[in-house]
Amino acid sequence: MGEPNGYSRVLVVDFGGQYAHLIARRVREAERWSQIASPMEAEEVLAMADAVILSGGPSSVWEANHDAIALAAVESGKPVLGICYGHQLLAKVLGGRVGPSPRPEFGSTRVRVLDDGGLLRGFPGEVEVWMSHNDAVLEPPPGARVLATSEGSPVAAFEYDGRVYGVQWHPEVSHSWGGMLLLDNFLSIAGVPRDWRPEDLIGSLIDHIRSLVGDGVAIAAVSGGVDSTVAALLAKRALGDRLVPVFIDHGLHPEGEVEWVVRSLTSLGIPPRVVDASNRFFFELRGIVDPEEKRRVIGRVYGEVLREEAERLGARFLVQGTIYPDVIESGARPGADTIKTHHNVGGLPERLGLILVEPLRWFYKDEVRRIGRMLGLTDEIVEKKPIPGPGLAVRVEGEVTLDKVRIARVADRIVREEIEGAGLHRGLWQYFAVLTSSRATGVKGDRRSYGYVVAIRVVESIDAMTARVSRLPWVVLERIASRITGEIPEVTRVVYDITSKPPATIEWE
Ligand code: XMP
Repeated sequence: MGEPNGYSRVLVVDFGGQYAHLIARRVREAERWSQIASPMEAEEVLAMADAVILSGGPSSVWEANHDAIALAAVESGKPVLGICYGHQLLAKVLGGRVGPSPRPEFGSTRVRVLDDGGLLRGFPGEVEVWMSHNDAVLEPPPGARVLATSEGSPVAAFEYDGRVYGVQWHPEVSHSWGGMLLLDNFLSIAGVPRDWRPEDLIGSLIDHIRSLVGDGVAIAAVSGGVDSTVAALLAKRALGDRLVPVFIDHGLHPEGEVEWVVRSLTSLGIPPRVVDASNRFFFELRGIVDPEEKRRVIGRVYGEVLREEAERLGARFLVQGTIYPDVIESGARPGADTIKTHHNVGGLPERLGLILVEPLRWFYKDEVRRIGRMLGLTDEIVEKKPIPGPGLAVRVEGEVTLDKVRIARVADRIVREEIEGAGLHRGLWQYFAVLTSSRATGVKGDRRSYGYVVAIRVVESIDAMTARVSRLPWVVLERIASRITGEIPEVTRVVYDITSKPPATIEWE
């Protein structure tokens, strides 16, 4: 489907800041449809926007030349909100003074509110907000009103002409007091109606799939996760029996996973065709130790198996559960570093020669969940912990062998049983075991043994972009260690990974 039409639209111009994504998401939480665009793309879509938000960014307003888009936004006569770098940029193009801050501010910062009407309606006299800047707006643009100030930002917020606003802090970050209130105030002043409800689109998503596929046949690559399940459910409604959900068993799933996926998808009316390709995956993974190479091989073989299935079924279309962050992360930021190759994100269809159907490519995860609930998804699926596409292959260090996967599976089951048994799983993002390639000496039954080291990883996170280690009760950790060493003869030692993300990632590979 093209973008959702008929909704009011807030344009978020992404100057490369860490939080542009989060701004767009918060706007949608405030029930307004938002779209992210690079400064280059923004000029084109500006005309269609009802309001514009200029994001933060790593540059100084004196280095990068983004004046043109800031000016265009101001001159368009539309309501504009600048955040951090966007705030400085607006001040600059309107004739204010921007320069090195007398005291750069990073992290939690106290701000004095000078005017609690309009943008800062409902704010107390002083608030703690999240800042991250070296430059600051030192003098407001002529004719602008200063709304707030801090030690390092003489003009921490300003208003110009009743429709252009700037804030030095990051209202989109949860550590900022009243972030949603500020965004909501701006959107109300801007007159952008609350009309965004993702579930209203179900009918048009179904129509769109139908018009794309015509009387053809489509396969849906399903994993049991929320995104692919919702995409397959929509396609099922559109195509009926001409939609075949396909679940590829690469032999790297946690214990019980294949059965769980089959059971839950069947109960939703989309029983998957299970293709057991495990021998092929293990064969292709022989001798491969490099983590990225492992991911690439799995991606390639996955694509091959999918293509063969499509051929067998006479399908020309592939339904995928790609969501908006996947699209943004794999395309819109050309300078971004590839941290890990996610085989289910982008890249597949070109090689596959299948026509891609991605009904969810304009949606965030929470929106997909809302759509899913409307389609009958249960909490069990909606709240399922993510399992990486390559499965246990990235939780077994070094070469992937049948034996190592067998050990990793048991360790993983023990971790799950203990954490879920203790009722701790609700607050956690993920909890799993990693079979490391380290060995350690142990003593079992009075005999020396030299076995594997298993690492336990348990993290809390909101969106997997950052994560902190869970401070699990010792008794639970000790029980996990004692069970793993007791029930798996090949393991002599269990360690707890206490590294946050960043600097570590959540998975080990
Ligand atoms: P990292 O390890 O990058 O993981 O901090 C962030 C989140 O993404 C999951 N993950 C994947 N999910 N395909 C996926 O669908 C993949 O290839 C993949 N690799 C990592 C990981 O489990 C965590 O929740």
